[in-house]
Amino acid sequence: MLNKIILSVLISSLFCTNIVFAKNAKHVTKEKDGQKYYLNRCSSCHGAGSRGGNLYSINEWERIFSKNGIELLELHEGEDDVQDVIEYIKSDSFKLENKNMLNFIQEFAYDSELIPTCY
Ligand code: HEC
Repeated sequence: MLNKIILSVLISSLFCTNIVFAKNAKHVTKEKDGQKYYLNRCSSCHGAGSRGGNLYSINEWERIFSKNGIELLELHEGEDDVQDVIEYIKSDSFKLENKNMLNFIQEFAYDSELIPTCY
């Protein structure tokens, strides 16, 4: 009985280690433009991509970016020091860049196959 418990703990921790490893392994994106836009516009506050992206699912990110980013705008309104982001989301640059940026962020969504999470 005890052996069984120890074994299952061992197996699950092994499993977890593997997943963490996969998560840390460098994922090379095909969405280079989206990555560039994200790094320029978001990463100074939200980190390099793998951290923020898995807050939401692929579909949730889709929704956040839909309708010219109205939800993205609301998520920032009322926060300190985000005037630049707000202007960016309202700008024509966002209209040009948001599709690529969304593709990039979706690669890191929590239900993306590329970055499995361990909890
Ligand atoms: C100047 C800093 C700054 C920049 C640049 C910035 N954000 Fe934010 N963002 C914030 C702050 C502050 C919040 C609200 C606090 C929080 O939830 O972390 C926030 C919240 C969010 C949220 C909601 C997070 C949650 O916890 O639910 C999302 C999604 C988001 N930002 C995406 C983006 C994207 C995409 C970009 C690039 C277009 C971006 N942000 C650029 C500061 C920034």
